[in-house]
Amino acid sequence: MSDLVLAILHHLLILSLAGLLAVERVLARPGLSGASLGTLARIDAAYGATAGLILVVGFCRVYWGAKVPAFYLENPVFWAKIAAFAVVGLLSILPTIAILKWRKQAKADPAFTPAADDLAKVRRVLGLELVVFALIPIFAAAMARGYGL
Ligand code: HEM
Repeated sequence: MSDLVLAILHHLLILSLAGLLAVERVLARPGLSGASLGTLARIDAAYGATAGLILVVGFCRVYWGAKVPAFYLENPVFWAKIAAFAVVGLLSILPTIAILKWRKQAKADPAFTPAADDLAKVRRVLGLELVVFALIPIFAAAMARGYGL
């Protein structure tokens, strides 16, 4: 039963994370300012919280799921999945810092809009995050079936 609940939570959180990331990419476009910048900042915060919950629920699945922890911990494919997750997390630092900086500037100057170069950089990193993110379910499906053991 706990395995089922954890699996459901895991999948719902993963879908939420993918949705939040896609919305961030859509919002981070030329013309970003004022209200849409506020929305982007809130979505980025929700993205961080969701990623944290995925990590917690993911490790709960490792220790209290249907299989023994060694099934995952001794499998390089599991660690490849965790590495991909970590890369997405590290990449997300740059957009978060930029968004927080923009928010601060927009508070001081309501007409503020991010420089085109900065926006393009953030869009590129968000796009890269989406690409690396796509590797995670691939590793997940392989590890769940014991590939790598
Ligand atoms: C955004 C990040 C993540 C994504 C997209 C993701 C994706 C998935 C998917 C699609 C499955 C189902 C695999 C299948 O049954 O075919 C799965 C299972 C699982 N994931 Fe994740 N996952 C993520 C993060 C994590 C993290 C951080 C951990 C652990 C720390 C974790 C641990 C697990 C475990 C233990 C299973 C169960 C595999 C099994 O049924 O044996 N996941 N994940």
